[in-house]
Amino acid sequence: MRIGIPQEIHAGERRVATTPEVASKLIKLGFSVSLQKGAGIAADFSDEAYREFGVEIVDDPRSLWASADIVLKVRAPEQRPELACHEIDLLREGALLISFLWPAQNPDLMERLAARRVTALAMDSVPRISRAQKLDALSSMANIAGYRAVIEAAQHFGRFFTGQVTAAGKVPPAKVFVIGAGVAGLAAIGAANGLGAIVRAMDTRPEVKDQVKSLGADFVEVNYEEEGGGVGGYAKVMSEGYQKAQRDTTAKQCMEVDIVITTALIPGKPAPKLISAGMVEAMQDGSVIVDLAAEQGGNCELTVPGQVVMRHGVTIVGYTDMPSRMARQSSQLYSTNLLRVLEELCVNKDGIAIVNMDDEMIRGATVVKEGMITWPSPAPKLSGAPPVVNGAAPVFTPPAPKKPLIPAAISNALLFAVLGAALFALGNVAPAAFMSHFMVFVLACFVGYMVIWNVTPALHTPLMSVTNAISSIIAIGALIQVAAPSVIMKLLAGVALALTTVNMAGGFAVTQRMLRMFRRSE
Ligand code: NAI
Repeated sequence: MRIGIPQEIHAGERRVATTPEVASKLIKLGFSVSLQKGAGIAADFSDEAYREFGVEIVDDPRSLWASADIVLKVRAPEQRPELACHEIDLLREGALLISFLWPAQNPDLMERLAARRVTALAMDSVPRISRAQKLDALSSMANIAGYRAVIEAAQHFGRFFTGQVTAAGKVPPAKVFVIGAGVAGLAAIGAANGLGAIVRAMDTRPEVKDQVKSLGADFVEVNYEEEGGGVGGYAKVMSEGYQKAQRDTTAKQCMEVDIVITTALIPGKPAPKLISAGMVEAMQDGSVIVDLAAEQGGNCELTVPGQVVMRHGVTIVGYTDMPSRMARQSSQLYSTNLLRVLEELCVNKDGIAIVNMDDEMIRGATVVKEGMITWPSPAPKLSGAPPVVNGAAPVFTPPAPKKPLIPAAISNALLFAVLGAALFALGNVAPAAFMSHFMVFVLACFVGYMVIWNVTPALHTPLMSVTNAISSIIAIGALIQVAAPSVIMKLLAGVALALTTVNMAGGFAVTQRMLRMFRRSE
């Protein structure tokens, strides 16, 4: 089958559906690939680069669309004024189209695709199940958007992100508040933390708390008890009471921080308005808000989609094309997602794509099958969210702690009394030399325990390897025995020394290797 990659015509779109490298992998799957001339230029991929990997470059868009059995695109098909027709009309009947389609927002487009009797897979409808992660273009793009949001914020923020002490004065670190810790939010947290800012994050789903913390940010709790997880691992609309409490928390944070990055979204719903005009007014002059939810109406009341505006001394960035602003990177990730789709469709690697509706992953993404609208697909069987009972998400109540039979204070006192009695009895019967060694042993255990107790568990292995190395007491014993008159003793001491050397050198090597894992790579 022939795969066609047309030029993206949406205003400002710089991405391309396939990079030269991914094209070569598609060819290995048995497909032939053609690309519209210049389609990759805006993402820094020249026609020459595609040609080197065996891609045919086609000058005429009409013949590219007409010859393709499978069309790979980024944006949903739209009207082509220069050809005086819609892109769907350029599709060959029975062809397969794979791109972002947003079926909920584009019912007319669905009708048009069905009328054209094609099959269409929407990359935005891939179910969020673990098996489908490699196909998840929404996450790939949101990841880039989150990173880019921080870069845009840095561009409009007139200060360092990291704190500095210089001869010219002390600079405090920037404070960044991320609302919504989904894919984009977590990427923003990582990027802002990497630049040295103090980062805080808020989300209605408490299960993201650990992820937020693991990226070095503080999790801001809303003082209201309500579980925010909904169907499919996404959030749900919160109660009035929660929303009020969240507004109070957000207002407080807005007054404290320099940069707010908002990513809050519930699929299929307009973006929740979390930052009011009053909150913007209360922010310090020079602050920046990057509203990633701008396309769905924005999380901030004053956001203008697609534009950067200045309100009450605060810059509000409402760009809706963040991934396209990093076109080379986003094309690389998106085209890899498409490659994974085609690998699923062409399991025999014979260049023939079969849309298997029994596969939950493919079923979820298929919105039109041979002229029949198949969207929406049944909800995926696997969900990361708790089941909904009688329309309301169950609230997690931790099990009541078991009451111990004997109170802790009494059991501790008993333990010490038994240990004291045992030591007293031992002291009475054991020889004096044993007791002195025994005391050293007990003290060593105590010091060892206290030293390790306060170390982060992740650092235990390097710590153990280095203590193992330096405590190679065998080395001292062996050194003493090397001077012994017996040849066998000398030999044994030599072997002991050799083995200890391996142990010590190995211990330090392992320690260095482990510690390197905690350092940032150059
Ligand atoms: P996601 O669904 O993974 O994350 C959204 C997060 O917001 C979830 O963690 C959810 O729990 C949280 N949330 C929902 N309501 C909330 C509320 N009231 N308060 C606090 N948190 C709340 O979505 P993803 O993929 O991270 O995308 C985030 C946003 O970025 C979306 O609006 C998406 O459309 C947008 N986006 C924007 C792009 C751009 O160019 N501007 C590009 C890609 C994505």
